[in-house]
Amino acid sequence: MYNEVQFHPQDVSLKDSVFLITGGAGFIGSHIVEYLLSHGAGKVKVLDNLSEGRISNLDHLKHHSALEFTQGDCCNTELVKELMQGVHYVSHQAALGSVPRSIKTPLATNEANVTGFLNVLNAAREADVKQMVYASSSSVYGDHPQLPKVENQTGNLLSPYAVSKMVNELYASVFNRTYGMQVCGLRYFNIFGPRQRPDGPYAAVIPLFISAIRSNQPVHINGDGLQTRDFTYVENAVQANIRALFPKRNDAMGKVYNVAVSERVTVLRMYEMLCDLGGVAPQAIHRAEREGDIRDSLANISSGGEYLGYNPGVRMEEGLRRTFNWFLNNQ
Ligand SMILES: NC(=O)c1ccc[n+]([C@@H]2O[C@H](COP(=O)([O-])OP(=O)(O)OC[C@H]3O[C@@H](n4cnc5c(N)ncnc54)[C@H](O)[C@@H]3O)[C@@H](O)[C@H]2O)c1
Repeated sequence: MYNEVQFHPQDVSLKDSVFLITGGAGFIGSHIVEYLLSHGAGKVKVLDNLSEGRISNLDHLKHHSALEFTQGDCCNTELVKELMQGVHYVSHQAALGSVPRSIKTPLATNEANVTGFLNVLNAAREADVKQMVYASSSSVYGDHPQLPKVENQTGNLLSPYAVSKMVNELYASVFNRTYGMQVCGLRYFNIFGPRQRPDGPYAAVIPLFISAIRSNQPVHINGDGLQTRDFTYVENAVQANIRALFPKRNDAMGKVYNVAVSERVTVLRMYEMLCDLGGVAPQAIHRAEREGDIRDSLANISSGGEYLGYNPGVRMEEGLRRTFNWFLNNQ
């Protein structure tokens, strides 16, 4: 599916480059791996401990001889150091996602998201990689009321997960300033698409809703459902990662960028759109609001446009259609 789009510069060939994608058996990571392999990358190393990801996310890519999967943990210093040998580009996606999970088990979130991140960042520095990009999150905006969100205005953080992502940003900024490391962060806003897990206690809202619609079950909506989100199709997140690895400006590093569409929709409206795709009538059960959740979310994406050339090609409605069809054909 990535054959039809190209996000790295036209005059750059990926065939002599070695990539390391941590969390590459997860939802977003597996799409980055897919993009790189469809564009002839020389080698794509994947490091994933399979705590949340699934090896089956890479099944359709296993015929590529350039793919090299290692099951292991980002906190394993020796392993990460060894894998980093010969790597030119790193995309760090490994982390324990979910705000509620972090509220329940903050130590586990810190271990994977902070210790694991620092370990990868430091190994990338020691190996002198050309470029590193990592996944941050819109949760770092916390309770800041301004809409749309601009990168330099964040509020009080509302969860251990948000703290872990903010700490990533601080470390990356210091590594850029202190060691001149070429690294930047991407603040994802509700990414969705094929291969996002619909199961488990911390499943994201879109695959959960699609699952319910397909089995003609009601969905649970937190609060009144009028909270808004900037739902972003995964191809846009892949674009941001690739553009960040091959930045068009020399001064693009040491920064963070919103990755979204800049299109705001209520959770209820998103549910109705999915019901239309499934040809069913909405049946929503409202329950209490979720602790740590932000009420409204909408990104200003002009900085990513200016420094990286990021320009989301897939709007939400088209992304929902693609995602719904994928679940119909694959689950
Ligand atoms: N999906 C979103 O909407 C969203 C929003 C904001 C930020 N993010 C961030 O984007 C990244 C990717 O998220 P995703 O949605 O693809 O989640 P995911 O759970 O599908 O992917 C994360 C992957 O990391 C792996 N992993 C976790 N801890 C690890 C460790 N210690 N060592 C090695 N592998 C480990 C998991 O097994 C999984 O495959 C994460 O950093 C997440 O925090 C995602």
